[in-house]
Amino acid sequence: MDDLDEQARAILKGNDRGGYTVPTGGLYPYQWNWDSVFAAAGFAEHDLSRAWEEIETLFSGQWSTGMVPHIIFHKVDPSYFPGPDIWGGVGPLPSSGISQPPIAATFIRALHALDPEGSKARVRALIPRLRDWHRWFFDWRGEGGAICVSHPWETGRDNCPDWDGPFANIQPEGVEQYYRRDTTHVKEDERPRSYDYDRYLYLVKLGHDCGWDEAHLKEVSPFRVADPTMTFTLLRANRDLLALSQAFGEPTDEIEGWIAAIEAGSEQLWNPEIGAYDCLDMRTGEHTGVISSASFLHWFAGVGEDRMLAHYDRITSDVRFSMPSTDPAHPQYEPRRYWRGPVWGMMNWLIATGLHEAGHEDRAEALRLNTAEVIRTGGFAEYFDPRDGSPAGGRNFTWTAATWLGWASPNTKGITCPVSS
Ligand code: DGY
Repeated sequence: MDDLDEQARAILKGNDRGGYTVPTGGLYPYQWNWDSVFAAAGFAEHDLSRAWEEIETLFSGQWSTGMVPHIIFHKVDPSYFPGPDIWGGVGPLPSSGISQPPIAATFIRALHALDPEGSKARVRALIPRLRDWHRWFFDWRGEGGAICVSHPWETGRDNCPDWDGPFANIQPEGVEQYYRRDTTHVKEDERPRSYDYDRYLYLVKLGHDCGWDEAHLKEVSPFRVADPTMTFTLLRANRDLLALSQAFGEPTDEIEGWIAAIEAGSEQLWNPEIGAYDCLDMRTGEHTGVISSASFLHWFAGVGEDRMLAHYDRITSDVRFSMPSTDPAHPQYEPRRYWRGPVWGMMNWLIATGLHEAGHEDRAEALRLNTAEVIRTGGFAEYFDPRDGSPAGGRNFTWTAATWLGWASPNTKGITCPVSS
């Protein structure tokens, strides 16, 4: 048994707060949405029941609107800012007011495949919840089938250069003085700049002040950007929800409609000037012009065929460790600063799943081996420097441990999360 397997299980155990897992203590002391779904996939390697519990706890925070929040504040912890009061979420549990990439349906389908009989009741209970969540995205964030975000934190790629353009149009007036906690846990040059934080807080205040009224925000927010992570993960998640719904005799028409709409709408994210998928700022109608790791999620969504392959090969041969979160050829690339350059293991897992399904098994396997190597080099860090694999951000990180157990470890016992469509 590779010792790293044991280390990864110990990290999940250490971050387990009873029914949910924190991404890492101190820096992120609450339940994060897509972090928890990855955690479930990690638990599935050795404790399937615990894996289901992780997802069920996440859905216990679902709002009556269908939205599943990006953070659920189960127990107040002063080591994190902004906390529940600043957010003022209006759901059943204290929470943030935005969502995160909807990968749950995809991993729920994969967990179900590991134990179809034993998981029936749990899946049956989750299908309507998934449908409500996906409908929320479609109703409030759909723009002709491309899916928008109302805050960069919603995409997970918090400070990616994609937001530089939209942020330049925001004057963060009315934000009270605040005290960041993240830079007490992690070096400042591996985190977003204050310029970005001012705007993050401005957008949180905008949502808080209107009670997270999506109709109002759609009207007034200066930040409404169609995003590849959201669009591609939701398209993929709808395909998986459709498969589950068919298997359980649940309605499928609405889901089929979403799939068709997003398949067509995702084309809006194609930027012919750079020959790549990127973000589209709905307030200005401009593409952001950044090739990011999210650009390569189109295979995961089953669209775009091989139109990104040349960029994929160029970038992966340009760096020692892939996939950098921002194209190293972009002028704003910063190899250690959070989403402006570093490698994130769980993004690789999603990208490789898509590559594999598109018939690029060699590239998928190379990315898996490269991810295993970066974890051997840098440990279970939050993210890694693409030049040398050195660790950055938080340590003992849940989703890096889960990515190892579920996919990158040589001992992976075919969790095959996510299952191929
Ligand atoms: C943070 O606090 O940096 C998180 O990414 C917000 O979700």
